[in-house]
Amino acid sequence: MAEILEDKPAKGLSIKVPSELDNDDFSRYMIDRMNQLEERNHLLREQNHKIEAEKRYAESQKLKFERELRQLRSELERLKTAPLIVGTIMDVLENGKLIVRSSTGPQFVVGLSKFIKESELEAGIQVAMNQQTLAVIGVLPTSISHLIRGVEVIESPDVDYSQIGGLDEQIRELREAVELPLTKPEAFTKIGIDPPNGVLLYGPPGTGKTMLAKAVAQQTSAKFLRVVGSELVQKYIGEGSRMVRELFKLAKDKTPSIIFIDELDSIAAKRYDGATAGDREVQRTLMQLLAEMDGFNPRGDVRLLAATNRLDILDAAMLRPGRFDRFIEVPLPNGDARKSILRIHTRNMTLSEDIDFDKLSKITEGSNGSELKAIATEAGMFAIRNDKDRIENEDLQSAVAKVLMHKSQPSNVSESMFV
Ligand SMILES: Nc1ncnc2c1ncn2[C@@H]1O[C@H](COP(=O)(O)OP(=O)(O)OP(=O)(O)O)[C@@H](O)[C@H]1O
Ligand SMILES: [Mg+2]
Repeated sequence: MAEILEDKPAKGLSIKVPSELDNDDFSRYMIDRMNQLEERNHLLREQNHKIEAEKRYAESQKLKFERELRQLRSELERLKTAPLIVGTIMDVLENGKLIVRSSTGPQFVVGLSKFIKESELEAGIQVAMNQQTLAVIGVLPTSISHLIRGVEVIESPDVDYSQIGGLDEQIRELREAVELPLTKPEAFTKIGIDPPNGVLLYGPPGTGKTMLAKAVAQQTSAKFLRVVGSELVQKYIGEGSRMVRELFKLAKDKTPSIIFIDELDSIAAKRYDGATAGDREVQRTLMQLLAEMDGFNPRGDVRLLAATNRLDILDAAMLRPGRFDRFIEVPLPNGDARKSILRIHTRNMTLSEDIDFDKLSKITEGSNGSELKAIATEAGMFAIRNDKDRIENEDLQSAVAKVLMHKSQPSNVSESMFV
């Protein structure tokens, strides 16, 4: 705050002229006095400026605080409003009424807010409803990625063919079935055949199925939608099949795209009678998947790829031609394949020159790709532990012994425990 000058009584206004002054003195006195007053006037003006500036500042502060107050009030209002219920429109009736299903299950006939356009309403979309009256208050945006939470949209996965060992034949087949229809659709039109509808990769765990799918996606510029089968199994009835529907819709919106369903067996297991409610829901999801697979145009820009390690338990409907009609087996690696997988995983390691890959491939008989990867990493750990600056044959051999040890030991947990 500026210090306010003490306002002395304005002496200058009633001039008391000392009687002993003559004319000259008087005029000098007057000039002097005027100067004094000028000075004082100047001072007061300056003070005025200062105070005015302060006033302006205070006013702007006031505005700022008022704005803040308004914001806080509206935030408070927002926090105090009751939550809305999420529901799904089941049917649009004629007299401005809707049949909705709330997220808890039951269905209701409800009214709707005047601000919602009729054109926005259609069966299947999600709406927000008032808690008490259940009147539809707003239409929720169909943010597809929110509906299918489990789906990873990978723009460009970081795996390429050069990182996959011993699966050259599988890579060729996969490229023909998935890549070619996306990059050269005219080749298929010319010959007059439809490209394979869906491609199923099957084989034991850890043999590179997921890797293969990612590498395909990396090679094409297609969007890669990866969903794990179990993500499609949902708590509420109808959710799973909606997710499948949304997944295919998302794929169609983002063409060219590849849908990759990993661990397909979790939803596509054989259907059987006498299933529990939960099983029936999984079956409904499967049926939706079958319907979607029938419904999409194989020449379109959407390719379907799936992987499983339990081909034997898949439902027959899934396996008939027209659904998945290209099966690619991804077997356990043979001797040569094991050698090339080991070479791939030791590519960036400092190795001694005399590493005997032939011998390593022999002693790793029966192991899969992920075990071979673990062996390479473990060998590195042995070398570090022994303070070496390169990995030697013995490190790799100890790593083989360590990684494969648990395989030869019979498991002491009975498998039937989990059945
Ligand atoms: N052929 C291979 N070449 C190089 N690395 C491999 C190969 N197969 C497996 N691997 C290694 O094993 C890891 C697991 O492979 P991946 O996830 O593809 O197995 P999967 O076949 O999908 O297994 P699951 O059936 O259990 O899902 C990969 O990250 C990779 O490091
Ligand atoms: Mg996998």
